[in-house]
Amino acid sequence: MTFETASAETFAGTGYDAVFIFDALHDMGDPLAALRHIRDVLAPEGVLVVVEPNAADTVEGNLNLVGQIFYSASTFICTQHSRWQSGEQAACLGAQAGQARLTALAEQAGFRSVRRAAETPFNIVVLELRP
Ligand SMILES: C[S@@+](CC[C@H](N)C(=O)[O-])C[C@H]1O[C@@H](n2cnc3c(N)ncnc32)[C@H](O)[C@@H]1O
Repeated sequence: MTFETASAETFAGTGYDAVFIFDALHDMGDPLAALRHIRDVLAPEGVLVVVEPNAADTVEGNLNLVGQIFYSASTFICTQHSRWQSGEQAACLGAQAGQARLTALAEQAGFRSVRRAAETPFNIVVLELRP
């Protein structure tokens, strides 16, 4: 087993059976580019598993205790990180992107199958994306 450090948009290799993103997609400046790259390097039957905060698709749906914490972190950390990577073009998804927006992005990247495979009652969504 080897470990390498690389960006999600440019890491090397092809034919991966599985790629995992843990709580990082919404921090990326260009998450669409990352999803497209991963889509390109997955094996035909490969899978991308994305773990993201468990957020509702509307602001109103996130106006709860957990949402307040996530929006605070999102404002000061996640969106800033995204902006740092891609400037004015940054996606700035933030920690409360929600499944609908993440799914739309995945479909734009060419994934044809997206499903919520699991979730905790607290704050994690697992999305399983297949080419
Ligand atoms: C909230 S932290 C999550 C860290 C860890 N995966 C976890 O779950 O505890 C977000 C991570 O996304 C990584 N990240 C941000 N932009 C990235 C990119 N373009 N490519 C790869 N990783 C990126 C950061 O380096 C950071 O480690």
